[in-house]
Amino acid sequence: MIKIAPSILSANFAKLGEEVKEVEAAGAELIHIDVMDGHFVPNITMGPIVVEALRPITTLPLDVHLMIENPDAYIEQFAKAGADYITVHVEACRHLHRTIQLIRSFGVKPGVVLNPHTPIESIQHILEDVDLVLFMTVNPGFGGQKFISSVVPKVEALSNIIKERGLNIDIEIDGGINEETIVPCAKAGATIFVAGSAIYNQADRANALQRIKAAGEA
Ligand code: DX5
Ligand code: ZN
Repeated sequence: MIKIAPSILSANFAKLGEEVKEVEAAGAELIHIDVMDGHFVPNITMGPIVVEALRPITTLPLDVHLMIENPDAYIEQFAKAGADYITVHVEACRHLHRTIQLIRSFGVKPGVVLNPHTPIESIQHILEDVDLVLFMTVNPGFGGQKFISSVVPKVEALSNIIKERGLNIDIEIDGGINEETIVPCAKAGATIFVAGSAIYNQADRANALQRIKAAGEA
């Protein structure tokens, strides 16, 4: 029921392929790829060529998290590079519905992301169009930050709305997830959990991943 999406942001980029294969063998369900442009967030990471390079080395879905301004300009490139999910920030999309349709037009599953302070009311009218809602539980830009627990009530509120409307939407959580912080989020109804430092910064990644998953399923 609980899916773990290791974030390669905390992996060793000098051997990225092996790092992805290691978490796949350890039981990861998705690979989370953090795309940052130095404008929407104060950091620069990777682009479509990294997605393209990783596509043939894993069978897991590639979950591409766009933390960029003007995502519309890059969606086709990420789709053609092999993204399975593309998530865009509501704060970065002037015409969110158009952006979501653009993602779907390439056969990619669209998702929308909310920063910690952004209310769920901002996505009320897009829920019928998305496969995924991603809640940031840190301010986007860096791995290894502290979990912001005030997001949990938002997760619970959205989970209730999804149930009331009978929608089939996954709730994903990103930022500061570990064995402890996964627990309230899973209880609130989230099903996919990104974990960067809590997996890649550990000596035994497989053990770390399985412990986080077990804590979420308990
Ligand atoms: C932050 C990224 C996250 C990050 C999570 O902007 O979106 O995916 O890699 O890292 P941890 O799990 O270390 O908080
Ligand atoms: Zn992310």
